[in-house]
Amino acid sequence: MKKLLVLFVLFITVSASAADIELPAPEKTGGIDILDAVAARQSATDFVDEEISLQQLSTLLWVAGGINCDDGKLTYATALNNQDMIIFVFMREGTYRYNPADHSLTLIRDGDNRVLTGGQPFVAKAAVDLLYIQDTEKWAKVGRKIPAADILNCGFAHAGLSMQGVYLYAASQGWGARTRLSFDKEKLKEFLGLTDKHNFTLMQCVGPKN
Ligand SMILES: Cc1cc2nc3c(=O)[nH]c(=O)nc-3n(C[C@H](O)[C@H](O)[C@H](O)COP(=O)(O)O)c2cc1C
Repeated sequence: MKKLLVLFVLFITVSASAADIELPAPEKTGGIDILDAVAARQSATDFVDEEISLQQLSTLLWVAGGINCDDGKLTYATALNNQDMIIFVFMREGTYRYNPADHSLTLIRDGDNRVLTGGQPFVAKAAVDLLYIQDTEKWAKVGRKIPAADILNCGFAHAGLSMQGVYLYAASQGWGARTRLSFDKEKLKEFLGLTDKHNFTLMQCVGPKN
C-alpha cells in the first residue's frame, strides 16, 4: 500500500512537471490600433502574479522574435539578418528558450525562477520575464571583420527593437511591460549554462498589471 502511495505521488509530481511547449499559431491580426498602442506605451511596476493564456504567450513571443516573412526573417530587424538573439522566457512553471524556427519553447529548468531575474520586487510577479541574449558566435559566419564593439552594440539594438514590439503588444492587452538593465548576469549565466560568447543585453518584464 505504502509503495503504491509513493508511486502515485511520483506520478503526480512527474505529470505536474513542466515540459517543452509547442505553441499554437500566433494571432497576427487584431489588437488595438497601432497609434493607440504607441500612445499607451509606458513602463510599469504594478504587475500582478497572474498567468497568461497559451495563446497570449504564443502571440507575445511571436511579436518579440518570431518569423513574420516567408523567407524566414523576423518581426524585428537584425544586422545582416544574422538573427543572433536568443530569448529566454522565465515563467511560473519553468524557464524556457524560445525557438522561432518552429515557434516552440524548450524547457531549460522546471519551476518558478522569476525571482532570479532581478532584485526589484515586481520582477517575481510579472507573468513573463524575457532575457535577451546575443549569441556572438553567429558573427563568425559573416565572412568579414566587424569591430567587436559594433557587434555588441548590435546585440543591444536587436534587443531594443524586439522590446518595443513587446511594449506595444502589452499595451494592446492592457498589460504592463518594463525593460531592465539591472539583473545579476553571473547568476543567470550559471543558471542557464551560458558562456562568454553570450552577450547579456537586457531583460523585460511583461504581463497583467493592476
Ligand atoms: C536600457 C534601459 C534600461 C532600463 N533598466 C531598468 C531597470 O533596471 N529597472 C527598472 O525598473 N527600469 C528600467 N528601465 C525602465 C526605465 O526606467 C523607464 O523606461 C523610464 O523611467 C521611462 O519610463 P517609460 O518607459 O514609462 O517611458 C530601463 C529602460 C531602458 C530603456
